[in-house]
Amino acid sequence: MEDPLRYGAVSEAAYALKDLFQQVTSFEGSEVLSTHIETDHGRAVSPVSASFCIIDFMRTRMFIKGIAEAISFKLLEKKGNPVTVLYAGTGPFATLLTPLTTLFSPSQLKMVLIDLNPESLAYLRKTIDLFDMGDHVLEIIQADASTYQVETGRHPDIILSETMMPGLYREPIVNIFANLAAQCPRAIMIPELVRVEAALISNLSASGYEVLPLKTLMELSAATAAEMNKPECCPAIFHQGIEVEIPVNLDPVYTRLVLLTYIKTFSGNDLGLNQSSLTIPFFFKTAKLIKEFPQRLRFKYGTDSFPGFQYCGFTDLSQGWAR
Ligand SMILES: C[S@@+](CC[C@H](N)C(=O)[O-])C[C@H]1O[C@@H](n2cnc3c(N)ncnc32)[C@H](O)[C@@H]1O
Repeated sequence: MEDPLRYGAVSEAAYALKDLFQQVTSFEGSEVLSTHIETDHGRAVSPVSASFCIIDFMRTRMFIKGIAEAISFKLLEKKGNPVTVLYAGTGPFATLLTPLTTLFSPSQLKMVLIDLNPESLAYLRKTIDLFDMGDHVLEIIQADASTYQVETGRHPDIILSETMMPGLYREPIVNIFANLAAQCPRAIMIPELVRVEAALISNLSASGYEVLPLKTLMELSAATAAEMNKPECCPAIFHQGIEVEIPVNLDPVYTRLVLLTYIKTFSGNDLGLNQSSLTIPFFFKTAKLIKEFPQRLRFKYGTDSFPGFQYCGFTDLSQGWAR
């Protein structure tokens, strides 16, 4: 039987990794390093925010574990050739991949590292040099991963991106996946699955939330992402929207309508409700309590410069969508 997970040890390891990266590269907060970049496809968080993602320790653990398993899986297919991982949105340390250079040699793992923030890339180059990981790197590229074109013959085996918040709000992972999955149909996408559902929850108690799932709004995967930019098969959530009905005669234990996010990084590695900062409930700012929402709603996902789910009353399209 596997040892029970020791959360304290995972947390300590994540803090130690952050301190190591920051100390070795002399990474210190400054105004420029704390500035987010707003793009046509969502927000690219600042190098400082990106560096702090490390200490979301269960997130970091489940991603690194999933990526390691995906690399081992692809190595079996590659017959002695290295597995190429394209990492879209590395931050200053390419946190979710660089630790795996201690497990996989340069003849097993090659990295293509992309970020659009030049400050993050300056620290990333330092990280690669100072930890002597140059032989693992194919390219470090400054680009917007939601429009980046993969060169012919250079298709990666695995595409990795953690550019997301709960409820797939604000950051561009949906746009990045739609762009890259369509170009690389044979690549494993990590996370392998992100599911967002509308649900009713209770107030938080010592035993957690009571949850009443209402409807799955989106499943982001290699297969669904590849369809998103094809008008003939684009999922309803990007067009007319998906209808959700709040049941009448509800048990009063349920107080809020929220979006719940579930992540499978790869294979059996997943993050459920409240297991990471990415899987906490998402509350709409305009309405939280169930009674503030229309009873029949339509949800839609916007992929513009402010990505996220929006809702309106089922017949109220003319009155606009709320976030
Ligand atoms: C949430 S941080 C994650 C950092 C690190 N990968 C981790 O998981 O710890 C997201 C990173 O993705 C980058 N990013 C966001 N949108 C991007 C885009 N469209 N193209 C390339 N990089 C992007 C940001 O600049 C930031 O460094």
